[in-house]
Amino acid sequence: MADDRILEEGFNGLASAQPALPAAWYFEPAQFDREMRDIWGKSWVYLCRADSLPHTGDFRSFSIGGQEILVVRGEDGAVHGFFNTCRHRGSALCTSETGRFERRIVCPYHQWTYGLDGRLLATGRMRPVAGFDRAEYGLHAIAIAEWGGCVFANLAGDGASPFKEVFGGELSFIASWPMETLVTGHRYRKELACNWKIFWENFNECLHCPNIHPELCELVPIYGRGIMARRDDPEWQAHADDGAPLRSGGLRTGADTWSMDGAAQDELPGLSHEERASGQRYATLLPSVFIAAHVDYVRIVRLMPLSPERTELTAEWLFRPETLARPDFDLARITDFATLVMEQDGMACELNQRGLRAAPFERGVLMQEEYEVFLFQDWIREALGEPRLSQPAGSRASRRRPLGTEKQSGDHHEPG
Ligand code: FES
Ligand SMILES: [Fe+2]
Repeated sequence: MADDRILEEGFNGLASAQPALPAAWYFEPAQFDREMRDIWGKSWVYLCRADSLPHTGDFRSFSIGGQEILVVRGEDGAVHGFFNTCRHRGSALCTSETGRFERRIVCPYHQWTYGLDGRLLATGRMRPVAGFDRAEYGLHAIAIAEWGGCVFANLAGDGASPFKEVFGGELSFIASWPMETLVTGHRYRKELACNWKIFWENFNECLHCPNIHPELCELVPIYGRGIMARRDDPEWQAHADDGAPLRSGGLRTGADTWSMDGAAQDELPGLSHEERASGQRYATLLPSVFIAAHVDYVRIVRLMPLSPERTELTAEWLFRPETLARPDFDLARITDFATLVMEQDGMACELNQRGLRAAPFERGVLMQEEYEVFLFQDWIREALGEPRLSQPAGSRASRRRPLGTEKQSGDHHEPG
C-alpha cells in the first residue's frame, strides 16, 4: 500500500481506499435532474463539427439533458445557439434534427418570426398591444464557442465561464493537430443502458483492460498490466529508465496508431517527433467529450445523457481530405479498432449499471489504481456543491482542478 514516501516520489495511486459515489446517484431521477442543472446546464458541451453547418441558415437541434436547443449558421457567418422555444407561448420552434432556415426562424404555431441571430422580427397576425416591446422577446440565447472546427454550447449563456479558461489547458495537449482542416470520414452512434457517470468512470481506469480489451492490451502493452501510466505502479522507480512500452506506456514497438494492425496509412503534418512517437494523445473535456489524437487521424467521442440510465454515445473519425481521397485508403482498418474497443467498453458500462440497484449496495469503493475515478467523482461532488474528499498533500489526487478540466493527456487509458 502506498505511503507518504511513495506519494512524494511521484506515485499516482490512492494512498487509501476511498468511498465511491452513492449508488442511488446512478439511477434516481431527482439526482439526474440535479446533475443536468448543476453540471450539464453550466458546462461547455461538444455538439458537432462546424462544417456540418456550412451555409447561412443551416441548423441542427440537440438535447442537452432534456433542454432542447438549436444551433444556426447566422448571416454574419457565426454559429448562434438558442433554446428551441418560442417566446410567445413556448412552442417548439423546430422538430427536425437538421435542415436550413430561409433567413428566418418561423414558429409553426402562430408564426412569430425571428432572425437567424434570434431577434424577434414579427408577431404573425397579432396586432400591436400596449405593454409589449418586441425587442424584449428575442430567443433565449445559449453561449457558443468554436475550437478547431468543433462547436461547443453552454446553456448558461452569458453566465458561462470563458471557454478558453475552462478548456485551454487541456486542449494544449493536442494543439499541434490541424483540427480545423480535418473532415469527418466515419461516424458511430450507440445508446448505452447506463448513467453518464459510469462511462467516465470506466474511461478513467484500466483495471478492466486485461479482461475486457485483449486487442487493445496488445496494442498498448501497459494496459495489459491493468494500469494507464508508468507512475501507476508503486514500484515505478525501479524501472524509471526502462523505455519499453510495457513500462513507459504508449503503443507497442512497431505500431504507429490505433488501427487493426497498428499501421498508419498517412501522417498529419505539423506534429513533433515526440507527438508522432506517442501514438495517442487525449484531451478530455468533461462532461461531454474526449478527443483522441493519433498520428494519422483524430477521433471525437461525445456522450449525451438521455435519462438516468440511458446515455447516447457518438464518435466521429476525422481525417485529412487527401487521406480519404486516396484510392488505397482502408477506412475500416482504422474505424474497426476503436469501434471494437467502444463496444467492449459499452458492454462493461451496461454490466456495471445493472448491478447498482441491489438494495444492500449503498456505494462502491475505490482502490489504489482508481485515482482518476476518484478525481472524477470529486469533480462531481464539487460541481454539485458537496464537500470534496481530502487526499494527502503531494498526491496526484490532491491537486485541485477547475470544473471542466480533467486529467493529463498522453499517458492515458482509452475508454469507450
Ligand atoms: S407559440 Fe410560437 S407563435 Fe405562438
Ligand atoms: Fe475500456
